[in-house]
Amino acid sequence: MTATIGQLFDLQGKAAIVTGGAMGIGAAIGERLAEAGAAVLIADVNEEAARKTAARIGETGGQAVAFRADMRQVGDIRAMVAAAVERFGRLDVLVNNAGIFPFTPALEMTEEQWDRVLDVNLKGAFFAAQAAARAMTAGGRIVNIASIDGLHPTGYLAHYDASKGGMVMLTRSLALELGSRGIAVNAIAPGSINTPGAATTAALSGNSAIAMEGFLKRIPLGRVGEPDDIAKVALFLASGAADYITGELIVVDGGYLLS
Ligand SMILES: NC(=O)c1ccc[n+]([C@@H]2O[C@H](COP(=O)([O-])OP(=O)(O)OC[C@H]3O[C@@H](n4cnc5c(N)ncnc54)[C@H](O)[C@@H]3O)[C@@H](O)[C@H]2O)c1
Repeated sequence: MTATIGQLFDLQGKAAIVTGGAMGIGAAIGERLAEAGAAVLIADVNEEAARKTAARIGETGGQAVAFRADMRQVGDIRAMVAAAVERFGRLDVLVNNAGIFPFTPALEMTEEQWDRVLDVNLKGAFFAAQAAARAMTAGGRIVNIASIDGLHPTGYLAHYDASKGGMVMLTRSLALELGSRGIAVNAIAPGSINTPGAATTAALSGNSAIAMEGFLKRIPLGRVGEPDDIAKVALFLASGAADYITGELIVVDGGYLLS
């Protein structure tokens, strides 16, 4: 045995970036990484919400700073990584969480809608990984938040499903290339998670209580997931407990894809 359980999950002295970290799954991940001792840069296009999340982490004894970055802009992404290195002196963990999922029937999809989703969800994730990997001089971890939609379509989200399928392969591709630099790259595929973004998509799709009931019936564990269900797995992938895992996708969906 090389380390105790406490040591395996101790991220003190490490620095992390969580994109889209202001709310929902990203905020929960930031909270868990900070609880484990990491200094966390909460990067988000919504600067005010990012500040509130960073402040909340600070109030509970964690170390977090907010940074405004639009994941569609490669310049913002490079500035985000530079800010983390300047502020914390190093970078060990990147969580590519920022993502949008606007309900859009395929026959009504515009080029602008397609580009927006692919730019935030996939192009942004690639350039964040590139900038972060260049800065991870002592090795590191990249955790990509994909989706069960990268494996199985929900409907009316062709752009999103394509971006998340791309995220699954991007994870494997980067894992192969970055392994020799001591950087492990893994992904999580959340199922239905109770977040502000999910609530908006459900409202836009006219997802009624009856439809939600049918959806719930397909989840063997009998409940919709909470952001912390994903955050705990992200913490695992960022921790010493996951030292020898790379290129993997962990589905965290309460069993939804089983039926
Ligand atoms: N909620 C779910 O059911 C679910 C399921 C599967 C996968 N996911 C994935 O999890 C991730 C987080 O989803 P969520 O439900 O917490 O979403 P959310 O909408 O609740 O939060 C997303 C955050 O990302 C930020 N963001 C959006 N566009 C951005 C941009 N261009 N640049 C920087 N930040 C930006 C938002 O401001 C927000 O703070 C996404 O990648 C999503 O695809 C969510």
